[in-house]
Amino acid sequence: MTRITILPGDGIGPEVIAEAVASLRQLSVQYDLGLEYVSHDFGGVAIDRHGDPLPPETLAACRRGDAVLLGAVGGPQWAGLARTPETGLLELRAALGLFANLRPAKLLDGLAHFSPLRADIAHGADVLVVRELTGGIYFGARRSDANSASDLCEYSRGEIERIAHVAFQAARERRGKLTSVDKANVLATSRLWRQTVIEVAAHYPDVALDHMYVDACAMALVTGPRQFDVILTENLFGDILSDELSVIGGSIGLLGSASVGSEGPGMFEPIHGSAPQIAGMDIANPAGTLASAAMMLDRLGFGDAAQALTSALEYTLLEGCRTRDLGGEASCSGFGARVRENLRAGAGRMTAHRELIAMNRGCCG
Ligand code: NAD
Ligand code: IPM
Ligand code: MN
Repeated sequence: MTRITILPGDGIGPEVIAEAVASLRQLSVQYDLGLEYVSHDFGGVAIDRHGDPLPPETLAACRRGDAVLLGAVGGPQWAGLARTPETGLLELRAALGLFANLRPAKLLDGLAHFSPLRADIAHGADVLVVRELTGGIYFGARRSDANSASDLCEYSRGEIERIAHVAFQAARERRGKLTSVDKANVLATSRLWRQTVIEVAAHYPDVALDHMYVDACAMALVTGPRQFDVILTENLFGDILSDELSVIGGSIGLLGSASVGSEGPGMFEPIHGSAPQIAGMDIANPAGTLASAAMMLDRLGFGDAAQALTSALEYTLLEGCRTRDLGGEASCSGFGARVRENLRAGAGRMTAHRELIAMNRGCCG
């Protein structure tokens, strides 16, 4: 039996999570995975019900389970509090030791016309951002008074080494290229970052390493995304660059992520937020949460089920079932239902996958 802790959270969180859980239930039966789910309050909803964004029972449940699946947290009604939903998220990441956040972004063949970039630039983009998640300016001392404020950015050599190993190993399993992104022309933490990454690189002679300043990287991502394979970067830069990267595929709603540590349960979450403006309207794109669920299955050792979910998700997008953020008319629940239909149809329909890709490429360039 594998226990999944579900944290729907706020805004569109519960809507996108409902679709992911429905797919997981179906897969669990189809592949006999023995998944069990237990849902807990987290974020703004937990502040409202328990006066705490991360109640002790929620944290205990996360620790007990085999993986955590998170929707999103936050919203304007909680923004001014001493402990916000976002504070709870940082506390949870730290408590579970989730120092590595993996955010893959891939433009599907045949969907280049959904990118705001020209198809010839966006075509073939396939980038993994490895974001350090429990250090840097997010976790340094913070203070403010009426006239000044400060946020301390700190990194230790050990924190940089462990995330660098994750990124080099990922690059080794992909196309063997790693771009370390920093601001070493200005920041002391970035100079330590660059020096440490160069030292770790000695263990990975098969991986080609280069370095880029974060401002130049932000530019290069939209002028030549194909030059990137794995991007390794610190917490804040990774947050910003991954939102930028997400729109190369057409929408932030498409991207999933895995947050992992050296042991214990991982946490799987879309990279987008709670999108309060569209909450409750059944129009959010659940694809990023479905992609996160697929990453979760893969990490739990259910590779076949993960592959089936990924294929069904891609097939659904390619056959033209799309939510509004991608110019379509599907609702959140309608998209999820179609993914499950495609999952049920299974291998037969998936063999049409390649043909569909080829067709899309033909008509849309
Ligand atoms: P956001 O990601 O919620 O929304 C940015 C834009 O993208 C909005 O226009 C929104 O409508 C759209 N969007 C986001 N996800 C979408 C989806 N699945 N389908 C369709 N459209 C989608 O970012 P924001 O507006 O800056 O933040 C809103 C709240 O979410 C804030 O409280 C923020 O702190 C929080 N947040 C939480 C997480 C998380 O829980 N991991 C991540 C980012 C932001
Ligand atoms: C994300 C979010 C979070 C972050 C916020 C909500 C704390 O933007 O998961 O990308 O900055 O890490
Ligand atoms: Mn973010």
